[in-house]
Amino acid sequence: MRLKRRGAASVALLAVVCLALAGCGGDKKATTAGGASKVEVFSWWTGGGEAKGLEAMIADFKKKNAQIEFVNAAVAGGSGTNAKAVLASRLQASQPPDSFQGHAGAELLDYIKAGQLESVNFLYDEQKLRDVFPQQLVDQITFEGQIYSVPVNIHRSNILWYSPAVLKEAGISKPPATIEEFIADLKTVKDKTNKIPISLGAQWTADHLLESVLLGRLGVDAYNALWKSGADWSSPKVTQALQDFATILSYANAEAASTDWQLAAKNVVDGKAAFNVMGDWAAGYFKELGKTPKTDFDWAAAPGTDGVYMWLSDSFTLPKNAPHRDAAVAWLKEAASKEGQDLFNPQKGSIPARTDADTSLYKDYLAWALEQWKNSKLAGSMWHGVTANNAWHTDIDTAVGLFLKNKNTAKLQKALVDAATKGISAS
Ligand code: GAL
Repeated sequence: MRLKRRGAASVALLAVVCLALAGCGGDKKATTAGGASKVEVFSWWTGGGEAKGLEAMIADFKKKNAQIEFVNAAVAGGSGTNAKAVLASRLQASQPPDSFQGHAGAELLDYIKAGQLESVNFLYDEQKLRDVFPQQLVDQITFEGQIYSVPVNIHRSNILWYSPAVLKEAGISKPPATIEEFIADLKTVKDKTNKIPISLGAQWTADHLLESVLLGRLGVDAYNALWKSGADWSSPKVTQALQDFATILSYANAEAASTDWQLAAKNVVDGKAAFNVMGDWAAGYFKELGKTPKTDFDWAAAPGTDGVYMWLSDSFTLPKNAPHRDAAVAWLKEAASKEGQDLFNPQKGSIPARTDADTSLYKDYLAWALEQWKNSKLAGSMWHGVTANNAWHTDIDTAVGLFLKNKNTAKLQKALVDAATKGISAS
């Protein structure tokens, strides 16, 4: 297991403001025994597709727990770019929310090792949760025999979303299966249409693209080995992947820090861009936009990654000293429940973490994802908390941020080698 952060300075201000506000964890009144009067749940699900999924689960929670006031403490910013920094400040100040979103894997391990989480083994025993979550997922949230969170979903990171209309206009008959084909198609779109070849958003969406390019160029075993001791980030294959990354980025619209993943993905369904590499939360967003699968958009494994599920999982935690512990446990029960997961995931664009969910609810992209999950090899997402812990994640983001300015692949590789040396020795 292992983790990130960015824009730390601006976010520190946000954290201070947040701490000064009632309902942001500073509620002393209800910090009494048990604390079942309200529950403050912290996530970064404020935007298209994401908020809808959360709302569906909140509605079910409220039905079952009418006496508990629900405080939605979501902080905007795709992939938690702002939220994780705010969370870190709150945890540091011993003002945890009652439950917060954390990625299964290395990211969660950071919180566990810092002693910030309570074990939830009691809940797994009581709700027989070991029987309903895949073992390899439970392993990612277990440390020294204790389980520290409740996974609500499984997302897939390595998806190539594309516009059938733009591909047709460019004369491309099928999505690219390899990185070489991808680069050729990007050039074709550029030469033959006036559409954006690949749509990109804020810096983190480039980090997200990088993991798919690494996986596509290295293959699953060599990609997985990058996160373990003995990793060789200086290999010619990584050099090649970084050159591919640079070439692909040269076909992107200008990086706009103010544009989050939603607008970048929307360019595809609006027929303004040919491709976007993004996680399957985009499927939830496209559904919310009322777009028709296979017509307004289509999808394929990110080039070179067919047969590999680059996975990540959102999970909810029980922080130590949660002000409203009883209510937090009620929330975790909701997140763990079949009803909760089947309400949340079809909106969110993720498949359920539970193996006994009602599969008839998962249509179109999600029906495909369920099949793929059964039959694919697994790779852990770096950007979304599975393979690299928060510090390593930040180092990679810093390296990518510099690269977006200087376009120097040799410097990028050196920075990634250094980040891995640090990251692996710290884990
Ligand atoms: C991921 C998270 C997803 C989705 C995405 C975009 O890190 O796991 O649930 O929210 O960021 O914000």
